[in-house]
Amino acid sequence: MPLALVLNLDSDMPRPFFNLVFLGIFLALFSSDGYPHRVEKHAEKKDPYTSQKMAAIQESYLGKIKPIFQKKCFDCHSRFTIYPWYSHIPWVKGVLEKDIREGLKHLDMSQGFPFQGHGTPLEDFKAIEKTIIDNTMPPRRYKLLHWNSGLTPQEKKTILEWISNNSP
Ligand code: HEC
Repeated sequence: MPLALVLNLDSDMPRPFFNLVFLGIFLALFSSDGYPHRVEKHAEKKDPYTSQKMAAIQESYLGKIKPIFQKKCFDCHSRFTIYPWYSHIPWVKGVLEKDIREGLKHLDMSQGFPFQGHGTPLEDFKAIEKTIIDNTMPPRRYKLLHWNSGLTPQEKKTILEWISNNSP
């Protein structure tokens, strides 16, 4: 507590405010979700895209890409999860909820392009491109439960073209 006391000495901030700040710092340092790493990433959030270019990418996203992502990615990368009937089984529920929490943290497609999450638009492009080439998304455990949830060759081609057309 001495640290809190010292900081409080010549401040007109109310004490509860400081308590909150300390709680925040404590959570940031000791929570298990790698918070400091995300803060670091946010600080360097800049991209070569003008807002005009960004709007053009959003338009092409809505036309060609969103319908694919909606079917194959939104369950974990948006706030529009469609829970399957078996999500009521406790073990499955736990796995699914962890996936959604993790998936959203990395990449949140809820609001369209630019995506939310910890990456810049360019970093998101690179990350999506990589998961498509490596065939790692959706995760295999999810594909086992959701038949036909993998990307078809045509869908992969459409996404990869979209990314390369919009990469600087
Ligand atoms: C079952 C849930 C689930 C589905 C469906 C899913 N993802 Fe993910 N995704 C995750 C999780 C969990 C992570 C973070 C941990 C990891 O990389 O495995 C992740 C991470 C990612 C990342 C890495 C982001 C980064 O910053 O490194 C990308 C890119 C991605 N997903 C793209 C997609 C795309 C594209 C689709 C649809 C074709 C998709 N995901 C479908 C759960 C999912």
